[in-house]
Amino acid sequence: MDLRDKEVMREALDYASWGLGVVWPNPSVGCVVRGVNGEIVGKGRTLSGGRPHAEKEALREAGEGARGGEVSVTLEPCNHEGESGSCVHALLEAGVRRVVVLLGDVDVRVRGGGVEALRRGGVEVEEVWKEDRSDDLVRDALRLNGGYILNRLEGRPLLSLKVATTLDGKMGLRGRGGVKITNEGAHEDVHRMRGCYDGILVGWGTVKLDDPLLTCRIEGESWRSPLVIVLDKEGSMGRLEGEELRLMEDLSVRGLVVLVGEGVEDEVVRRIEERGASVRVMRLGIRGGMRWRDIGKVLGREMGLTRVMVEGGRGVFTRMLNESSVDRLYWYRDGSLMGSKDGLDVWGGGSDDVWRWKVLKRRDWGSSDLVVLEEEDFDERLCGLYEEVWV
Ligand SMILES: NC(=O)c1ccc[n+]([C@@H]2O[C@H](COP(=O)([O-])OP(=O)(O)OC[C@H]3O[C@@H](n4cnc5c(N)ncnc54)[C@H](OP(=O)(O)O)[C@@H]3O)[C@@H](O)[C@H]2O)c1
Repeated sequence: MDLRDKEVMREALDYASWGLGVVWPNPSVGCVVRGVNGEIVGKGRTLSGGRPHAEKEALREAGEGARGGEVSVTLEPCNHEGESGSCVHALLEAGVRRVVVLLGDVDVRVRGGGVEALRRGGVEVEEVWKEDRSDDLVRDALRLNGGYILNRLEGRPLLSLKVATTLDGKMGLRGRGGVKITNEGAHEDVHRMRGCYDGILVGWGTVKLDDPLLTCRIEGESWRSPLVIVLDKEGSMGRLEGEELRLMEDLSVRGLVVLVGEGVEDEVVRRIEERGASVRVMRLGIRGGMRWRDIGKVLGREMGLTRVMVEGGRGVFTRMLNESSVDRLYWYRDGSLMGSKDGLDVWGGGSDDVWRWKVLKRRDWGSSDLVVLEEEDFDERLCGLYEEVWV
């Protein structure tokens, strides 16, 4: 890759980030087509719902301008013929001369087959990740596709945890809901971040005490509101008498899945379903909880989610942290002190070990700020997982 290739690939990668949260179960891909004179003639990204693919969108925009040109794409083009034909087929038909591929696709239906088919068709192909795995573009692409890679290789989504705390680390008051912690700037950011996740998960305690909406409330972006998943071990939602929950609003747009424990009566399950939710019955472990390994499998392998944000509350966080099941943390902090002896800590304990994280990003809005952290060896684990496919 020369300098211009790198610039164009960066543009394709930025373009790909738009699709996070709205293209699952597919990966979010970006593609840029240059004509014979090097000018950009087409750009595309995976569209909402995962189709059409980025290559098809970029080629559609480029039209005849793609003939003899070069294509930069963030993930290996697919070579399996679906309803609308493969991307390899579309690239060959468009008559492109060269394709630069940032990452190989880990999906069992592709795994190098896309690159091979292009070469067989006479196209010059450059595989960036094979040349230099420490390249910033490769690292950023792995991070962008982290949820997709985990879904395909471990059968679970990327699991992020979002929490808001005061300076003294309190996330609320015992037995009380709706305690406002951070300022408007931080709230707006939460809505933006939600739009980049396939699903939001909360515990029944939070639903009961806070009655949250859990939508993406950014002007013109409400369609990005993710699927809501409620962890409701005892099926309490099916025992409500007449009360309406705010997260039941707009179910036709975003959907609601309730995870109940085995043993919840069929009648209770039926009442939850009557409210418009779909129900999954989960096995309970020895301590009476659903194991995060099982939750991950249901969300990833069975439902196809690639990125899930866990938004509360303390009981859910505690079990999740005790089972080392958090990949990424979004920690919104406010410059306030709560002091109350009823203040809730984020983690109810359970381990004497110190769990280390590295900072990915910081932002601030005056009295509130955000630190995004990633589990210390997440990067290495993800790269290792990815590379195993190719050895
Ligand atoms: N500041 C923030 O960011 C934030 C965000 C959300 C909520 N909150 C606050 O947090 C409080 C609510 O927390 P909470 O602990 O009462 O409610 P919660 O965590 O939303 O839900 C707790 C319930 O979920 C169950 N549960 C959790 N993990 C489970 C698992 N893996 N398997 C099966 N069941 C599981 C718990 O059962 P067990 O008891 O058996 O574990 C308990 O019945 C409220 O005050 C709310 O305002 C703050």
